[in-house]
Amino acid sequence: MSVKPILSALAGEPVWPPPVWLMRQAGRYLPEYRAIREKAGDFITLCTSPEWAAEVTLQPVRRFGVDAAILFSDILMLPWALGQGLRFAEGEGPRLPPLRDAAALAALDPGRLDGAIAPILETVAKVRAALDDRTALIGFAGAPFTVACYMVEGRGSSDFAATKAMAYGDPALFAALIDLLTESTIAYLSAQILAGAEVVMLFDSWAGMLAPDLFRAHVIAPAARIAQALRTRHPTVRRIGFPRLAGMMLGEYAAATGMDGLGMDSATDPRAARAAVGPDIALQGNLDPLALVAGGAAQRDGVAAILAAARGHPTIFNLGHGIVPHTPPSHVATLMEQVRAG
Ligand code: CP3
Repeated sequence: MSVKPILSALAGEPVWPPPVWLMRQAGRYLPEYRAIREKAGDFITLCTSPEWAAEVTLQPVRRFGVDAAILFSDILMLPWALGQGLRFAEGEGPRLPPLRDAAALAALDPGRLDGAIAPILETVAKVRAALDDRTALIGFAGAPFTVACYMVEGRGSSDFAATKAMAYGDPALFAALIDLLTESTIAYLSAQILAGAEVVMLFDSWAGMLAPDLFRAHVIAPAARIAQALRTRHPTVRRIGFPRLAGMMLGEYAAATGMDGLGMDSATDPRAARAAVGPDIALQGNLDPLALVAGGAAQRDGVAAILAAARGHPTIFNLGHGIVPHTPPSHVATLMEQVRAG
């Protein structure tokens, strides 16, 4: 049996042309997603209905032939599973009751986790059973710092001021929150692996907001604990870390966590990233999602530059952040041709 291309790349092989999938490859830019989303009504209902969640997970695999399916869920389903109320306000994004003190932390209940994530694990199993022998299944979780940002703020933010206020002003409370999330994330990802995920990815979208010492404490240390616990429990599973906008901290993150792959945001020069992390780690990325919206020369030149830097190195082609809703699906089809032409 041949090894799935993404798994080969994550084992350090310079597979060519590089395997490709796209962050947020299932979503509102696809009419077939919007149809299911309308049936489900609510986003959380969609995430917790295995039949529908499996269907939207598979839509981009069918339409584009990407090399991986990524579980359709959200990083905020973990706080939801721990009992922090979550809703997605239509057109506005996530809303949670802000977690600002020890009482709010104590109200979270890890005992709820297993029951709450059961439908998500059922989705994982359904998708895995539907995939062919060249398409890998990626499970994921938000990294503790990024999940904490939403839990503390109660919503998205441009500066995460309340989160940083807690990290600086009540470091013990913030560390306890990060600790709880680290342990819960190990349990959650481990369960996804047992249900059929072959790769797990840790999304740390706001990692780049932190000064180096806080980055070490709240980004690198939790990612290292998670990566190492998973390696011990599931030695063959592949792990991708995505400390977005980590900049010059990327090499330190790679060395300390031992991840098999690293996501690059669009601001990262792939050659500089390669120099920072060494020859063996797979680098994943990093076309600007807005170059994919623009299409034409912007897309063609962006793809060419990434491929030129990738040749001879373990690489997974992706975007530098998620697909945006106004992306023309035809540009994604063209992207697949451009990448597959090497
Ligand atoms: O990549 C995939 O296709 C898998 C599914 C996935 C979603 N969210 C689906 C989703 C993944 C991996 C995520 C990760 C996620 N969610 C992150 C980390 C990556 C990143 O983008 O930085 C973050 C920060 C979130 C939190 C989140 N979820 C926000 C801020 C929003 C609202 C913004 C938006 O785009 O609506 C969501 C909602 C969400 N998550 C949607 C999807 C498809 C849109 C829901 C809808 O209305 O249909």
